[in-house]
Amino acid sequence: MDKHLITGGVSLQGEVRISGAKNSVLPILAGCLLTDQRVIIKNVPHLNDVTTIMKLLGQMGAKLTISEGLTIEVEAGGVDNPNAPYELVRTMRASILVLGPLLAKHGRATVSLPGGCAIGPRPVDFHVQGLAKMGAEITVEGGYIQAQVKGGLKGAHIKFDIVSVTGTENLMMAAALAKGTTIIENAAREPEVQDLANFLNTLGANIQGHGTDTIVIEGVKALSGGTYTVLPDRVETGTYLVAAAMTGGRIVTKSTKGNLLEAVLQKLEEAGADISLGEDWISLDMRGNRPKAVDIQTAPFPGFPTDMQAQFMALNTIAIGKGTLVETVFENRFMHAHELRRMGANIQLNGNTAFIEGNSNLNAAPVMATDLRASASLVLAGLVAKGTTIVDRIYHIDRGYECIEEKLAQLGAIIKRVAA
Ligand code: EPZ
Repeated sequence: MDKHLITGGVSLQGEVRISGAKNSVLPILAGCLLTDQRVIIKNVPHLNDVTTIMKLLGQMGAKLTISEGLTIEVEAGGVDNPNAPYELVRTMRASILVLGPLLAKHGRATVSLPGGCAIGPRPVDFHVQGLAKMGAEITVEGGYIQAQVKGGLKGAHIKFDIVSVTGTENLMMAAALAKGTTIIENAAREPEVQDLANFLNTLGANIQGHGTDTIVIEGVKALSGGTYTVLPDRVETGTYLVAAAMTGGRIVTKSTKGNLLEAVLQKLEEAGADISLGEDWISLDMRGNRPKAVDIQTAPFPGFPTDMQAQFMALNTIAIGKGTLVETVFENRFMHAHELRRMGANIQLNGNTAFIEGNSNLNAAPVMATDLRASASLVLAGLVAKGTTIVDRIYHIDRGYECIEEKLAQLGAIIKRVAA
């Protein structure tokens, strides 16, 4: 397994281009299953998860071509195998997103249960319950969801007990071709959910209310083709801004937008960073200072994103003062704390709260990535630790960060990838 070797002590300076959002391009690629026409998707990030979902669509019978650089063309008219096998689903939970579109377009689907991951059991009961309400007959056996519907899905009134991003996305896609009206209450408001709705509307869907907690979908007979550009990745943006804040640097993140991560920018300002915003860029200047510790409580959008919690834990370990992190979305999203402690961090865990006492430095150590954002926090810690940190199992990072060592090196970091 590849490792990252990171030598700490460099204050990051310069510009970095932000890629398209992983959590937007995955549902959008799944949404291509809803039409037989050609779809062109631009600003696609080069990530392992994107490769995985392309394999998944390809083995179903869809035709995918990567044209210049960041564009993928998808034609799903030839799909004749509406199945998502375990060997692909287990590497990427987001594969569950093909369930709604396959049911809506083909009336049947066999999708492996995604199973849990390091951050929690990650059930999909909301997805199944919602589709059943729309008329699907769904059984779960042998680790697979078997679903079918005769005569097409019907609109339903669905209210989520807990906000679910992919739950909202799956049901929104299913409802796009259902007969009648679907109302989703307590819907997720994340920018990626809005991006998916905008994409589907580009193909002729009739979705209103995305970005609020109530989404109304009028089913249509069929969707057309179209061209769509994926929105910037707010978590990648936040990760580089935290890297600059931790190293006392000054960077500009380009091809991104401040309104995607206002809660994160507010916390960075509380930590002492000077933030400026432009049409398609965000700059952060730390003026060589150490960040001040911040208190965070994660919540669904527009609250503070759980996908930025690990990165702020890394910041708090070297900040001035004490910071607390309350993780309200996932049950077990503090795996990075154990690895950060190996580098000398002072972190106490109590249930879903982490108490961190910042100290002036961390020491390099061999550490192990456990999940995507945890591994990002270890790379960030390596940027400030004394010595050379070795981060193992960086396949987790490759799922969600495009060319991270090149982008960090461009900002001056001393980082390289070594094959194990
Ligand atoms: C999406 O996961 C993101 N993944 C996650 O990003 C992100 O952390 C999460 O939303 C929260 O923002 C993608 O978009 C591909 P949820 P998702 O359904 O949809 C519980 C990353 O690092 N729940 O919003 O799987 C669930 O256990 C990844 O990029 C049920 O109980 O998350 C969790 O506690 C990690 N039953 C809570 O809801 C269900 O049927 C929120 O989960 C569904 C969810």
